[in-house]
Amino acid sequence: MAHSHTSASILLLVLLETATFGFCTADVHFLNLGGANLTKAAPYWLPTVNMLPSLVELHLPGCGLSILPLTLPQINFTSLSVLDLSANGFNSTLSPWFFNLTELVNLDISMNNLNGALPETLGSLTRLKNLDLSENSNIGGQLPRNLGMLCNLQSLKLSVNNVTGEITDFIDSLSGCTNTSIKTLDLGYNSLTGHLPNSLGYLTNLRILILRSN
Ligand SMILES: *[C@@H]1O[C@H](CO)[C@@H](O)[C@H](O)[C@H]1NC(C)=O
Ligand SMILES: *[C@@H]1O[C@H](CO)[C@@H](O)[C@H](O)[C@H]1NC(C)=O
Ligand SMILES: *[C@@H]1O[C@H](CO)[C@@H](O)[C@H](O)[C@H]1NC(C)=O
Ligand SMILES: *[C@@H]1O[C@H](CO)[C@@H](O)[C@H](O)[C@H]1NC(C)=O
Ligand SMILES: *[C@@H]1O[C@H](CO)[C@@H](O)[C@H](O)[C@H]1NC(C)=O
Ligand SMILES: *[C@@H]1O[C@H](CO)[C@@H](O)[C@H](O)[C@H]1NC(C)=O
Repeated sequence: MAHSHTSASILLLVLLETATFGFCTADVHFLNLGGANLTKAAPYWLPTVNMLPSLVELHLPGCGLSILPLTLPQINFTSLSVLDLSANGFNSTLSPWFFNLTELVNLDISMNNLNGALPETLGSLTRLKNLDLSENSNIGGQLPRNLGMLCNLQSLKLSVNNVTGEITDFIDSLSGCTNTSIKTLDLGYNSLTGHLPNSLGYLTNLRILILRSN
């Protein structure tokens, strides 16, 4: 990808410029700059994205973004359905605005260095099918009770973090979904407790269950 690093940074900066002047960015639905070195655009990436109200998919994995702003005065990109910000070296807490993106189907913020608790507001992302917060090391707090209400979840990956609390209630709650789609549940390498309830048997689509090192 080396050849495209500069052009990707320039594209993001151009988007920033054109958005500033109101040209033709309203129609950007899909942006994938995965693997491009956007280190220089780190302070601007979120304000830039916020000027793309029609965005449906945003893929920026491994871009060296490093800065994850905690607040946004207003969120414009609320149609976003796919967000991949994995491996960007973010080291703050999970930004509250993630949980305002209620159209999200796939959210991947794995392999960063995020910390802080999983908020109950995670429960508002009811369309989520794939949630990957694995390998952040320091995401902690209790497993939110609400998580079990995300009945569309097909894959939940929280491994290699410091999540505490009971898995019993969580699995009970998931098994209460009319149609449980969950296929992959990777909660390994955390600090979870509890026992596996009989209701695990209702998760009929479950193929992969990883609980090691809890
Ligand atoms: C990314 O770009 C920055 C500055 O443009 C540079 O210092 C850094 O070494 C680059 N990183 C990689 C992994 O190429
Ligand atoms: C949101 O979009 C509107 C219209 O495109 C624009 O006027 C406004 O500045 C944007 N807000 C932010 C925070 O970028
Ligand atoms: C996110 O949602 C919360 C609760 O609905 C609301 O109070 C907050 O203003 C929203 N934040 C943004 C940036 O839109
Ligand atoms: C987080 O990253 C920023 C910028 O890279 C750095 O200045 C800061 O020291 C880091 N904080 C921690 C706790 O690692
Ligand atoms: C994990 O969480 C527990 C309880 O919240 C805390 O005492 C401990 O220091 C955390 N461990 C790490 C490695 O952050
Ligand atoms: C139940 O979930 C599966 C897997 O996501 C899906 O293929 C199926 O159509 C769903 N059935 C109903 C009745 O919603």
